[in-house]
Amino acid sequence: MKVANPLLPQPATIIDIIQETGDVKTFRVVLDDPDAMAAWRHRPGQTAMVSVFGVGEAMFCLASSPTSRDWIEFSIRRAGKVTTAIHQLEPGAKIGVRGPYGNSFPVEAMRGNDLLVIGGGIGLAPLRPLVNFMIAPENRKDYGNIEIIYGARSYGDLCYKEEVFRTWPETPGVTVWTTIDAPEEGWEGHVGFVPAYVAEIKPAPENKFVAICGPPVMIKFTLKELEKLGFKEEQIYTTLEMRMKCGIGKCGRCNIGAKFVCRDGPVFNLAALKELPPEY
Ligand SMILES: Cc1cc2nc3c(=O)[nH]c(=O)nc-3n(C[C@H](O)[C@H](O)[C@H](O)COP(=O)(O)OP(=O)(O)OC[C@H]3O[C@@H](n4cnc5c(N)ncnc54)[C@H](O)[C@@H]3O)c2cc1C
Ligand code: FES
Repeated sequence: MKVANPLLPQPATIIDIIQETGDVKTFRVVLDDPDAMAAWRHRPGQTAMVSVFGVGEAMFCLASSPTSRDWIEFSIRRAGKVTTAIHQLEPGAKIGVRGPYGNSFPVEAMRGNDLLVIGGGIGLAPLRPLVNFMIAPENRKDYGNIEIIYGARSYGDLCYKEEVFRTWPETPGVTVWTTIDAPEEGWEGHVGFVPAYVAEIKPAPENKFVAICGPPVMIKFTLKELEKLGFKEEQIYTTLEMRMKCGIGKCGRCNIGAKFVCRDGPVFNLAALKELPPEY
């Protein structure tokens, strides 16, 4: 029997590129094999390896909704070798994709509950599929209200502006608060850091899950505010970004204690994180 090589990337084509911020682009991608594209399924929070042929590969979260069947999306910040090479590609370019990998936000346990999403900058990328999954017509009745608190350094650094400023606020049961770090001309919204804004908004902890992702400093101070508001560690989920190579729990590059972030994560709740050695 022929066994498929789990490390072999599938050929894929970039069909569209959206410039989100100065250094973040969203790449809309289709797998070249129509059967593979039709069979593709991912869950909110999962990741995939993207390769630029002749350059290398890197792990990214799947930024598109699991309910979108025609393409997958990655939002990629230009950081180094692979990401700079991806940023130079144009629609029509060929890349490799392998995945989806890892666990996901617990969308079954979240059923019947409200959701508080807290994102900073490109940290909204793994949270976006969770929101879009929950507001999809086929799923909306299964979930309660969704509150989204999203901040970035400046207006130009906010990703997914169409969803953040239009689609999500116009969806019944969804409230969006946005903030930027410092005042700027033309911005009439909130100014200040995300943790302080959370303290100001005072979201209630009852019957609610929290999904948070962003710069470590934002997460650290936001968690203190959530604790003051009465949120428990079991309610709060985040995603980790350790260095990765294989992505499938074989090479040992991403482990924290006995857990492989690529396979057992990247999504963890705070209670589970407290059980791990502080290596992340
Ligand atoms: C589970 C997971 C999900 C991710 N999701 C996204 C995403 O949705 N969008 C996105 O833009 N990026 C994401 N990343 C980060 C992305 O994988 C790295 O930015 C990428 O590997 C950098 O590759 P490069 O060749 O361009 O950079 P390199 O040339 O390898 O490195 C450039 C710089 O980035 C640092 N670096 C590289 N990888 C990491 C890492 N994993 N953590 C911290 N620092 C690193 C290097 O030390 C160096 O300073 C994710 C990473 C993981 C593990
Ligand atoms: S990346 Fe190889 S074990 Fe996680």
